[in-house]
Amino acid sequence: MQHNNKNSSETNSALVGSLRDYREPRGTDIIKRVTPFFDWQDTRRKAGLWPYSKSTDTAPTTTCTAKDDDGEEVSGINFASQDYMSLSSHPAIKEVANEAIKEFGVHSAGSAALLGNTRLSLQLESTISEFLEGMEVVLYPTGWSAGFAAVQGFIRPNDHVLLDVLSHSCLQEGAKAATQNIYFHGHLNVKSVARRLARIRATDTENAILVVTESLFSMHSDTPDIGALRAACDEYNATLLVDAAHDIGCIGEDGLGHLGLQGMLHQADLIVGSFSKSFASNGGFVAVGTRAAKEYLKYYSATQTFSNALSPVQSAIVMKAFNIIGSEEGRVRRQSLMDNILYMRGKMSESGLEVLGDPSPIVPVKVGAEGQARLASLKLSQLGAIANLVEYPAVPQGGARFRVQVMADHSRPEIDLLIKKMIMAMEDSGCQFQNFKEGLPLNCNQSAQAA
Ligand SMILES: Cc1ncc(COP(=O)(O)O)c(C=O)c1O
Repeated sequence: MQHNNKNSSETNSALVGSLRDYREPRGTDIIKRVTPFFDWQDTRRKAGLWPYSKSTDTAPTTTCTAKDDDGEEVSGINFASQDYMSLSSHPAIKEVANEAIKEFGVHSAGSAALLGNTRLSLQLESTISEFLEGMEVVLYPTGWSAGFAAVQGFIRPNDHVLLDVLSHSCLQEGAKAATQNIYFHGHLNVKSVARRLARIRATDTENAILVVTESLFSMHSDTPDIGALRAACDEYNATLLVDAAHDIGCIGEDGLGHLGLQGMLHQADLIVGSFSKSFASNGGFVAVGTRAAKEYLKYYSATQTFSNALSPVQSAIVMKAFNIIGSEEGRVRRQSLMDNILYMRGKMSESGLEVLGDPSPIVPVKVGAEGQARLASLKLSQLGAIANLVEYPAVPQGGARFRVQVMADHSRPEIDLLIKKMIMAMEDSGCQFQNFKEGLPLNCNQSAQAA
């Protein structure tokens, strides 16, 4: 059955509210007090306006079949998966996964601090270390746990953490677990970093300050000036952490992301990486400059010591992915990916869609008001295209957007089709956007009526 309750009062109540409204429930019963969230979510679900927690019925390739969390099937072009280098169904990757299972079984069966490492995970550490030109590497079971560890493992209650306001949850949670001295600076604003560092150092010359940024911010698809951050850190004796989850492996001639493009690989004190975007697996790492820092992290970061190690299958997959990414095939894949990104951004802008940020595998397309964005998202899947909707509080209020995720294997016709369907979906749901083909900025409903 297709969700189609447009204009009903249920739909209207599904168009308002946000996750933010239920973040601080009150009352003594922690189970009962979360029910209002479910009521709101279920209203949205019944109206077909809960686009989250979808599941795939096929591999997450450029076309796929998925279900929403009410069991409704969505089938068609897929721009919602994080597999930027299109490695998740690569024959060589599947082959090493099968071989690893034959040799090791499927489980690491322990923390890396005990007996969880395997020959494969140790080889993977060396592979990444070589890729990062000699940095020391600690593996983690997810990218999230790596980001958390890089902050929590090193920072102590008297230290200070200064984060970009858009820093990923894992970095913020790592900071919260470590100290109460947490500050946020304006997004990408190095002047604001320097001002805060000066203020901290004016009263505390004894303790550490960790400056936290990302080399590619996923919701906005933009990048800091890492050299300027390094200079500010040097001036105030601070340490620099760069989370490279989204660009490592997939951006730049050599796949070193913006750290490589800006010539800053050896200027970051701590690098966080995730395997889940370009390396076809769950998992992540923290890279540091010294063996001493590596050994410390292994025993003092909670998500390393008290969580199971990466499985042998994951280690084999990621190692093969690094091999491909470091080879001529990887260079060609990165080029196809960037060609797709530039083609998509160009065509979208020509069509009057508002594309945010800079070229990266994430193409944020502004939709605007949350209610219309929810309707547009439903319509898009009914038209046979899948793209993630991101709304407040993940992005600013009224700034809902499609977070389009591009893969190296997407074809031009698939990209063209997405743009066509996205415009139809936005027009159908009354979004405001500039339709240059029609001339002036239009309300899409008007443009649809005029057509
Ligand atoms: C900047 C950043 N760090 C860490 C993570 C977590 O990585 P994973 O999803 O692999 O656990 C993400 C993923 O969304 C991210 O965007």
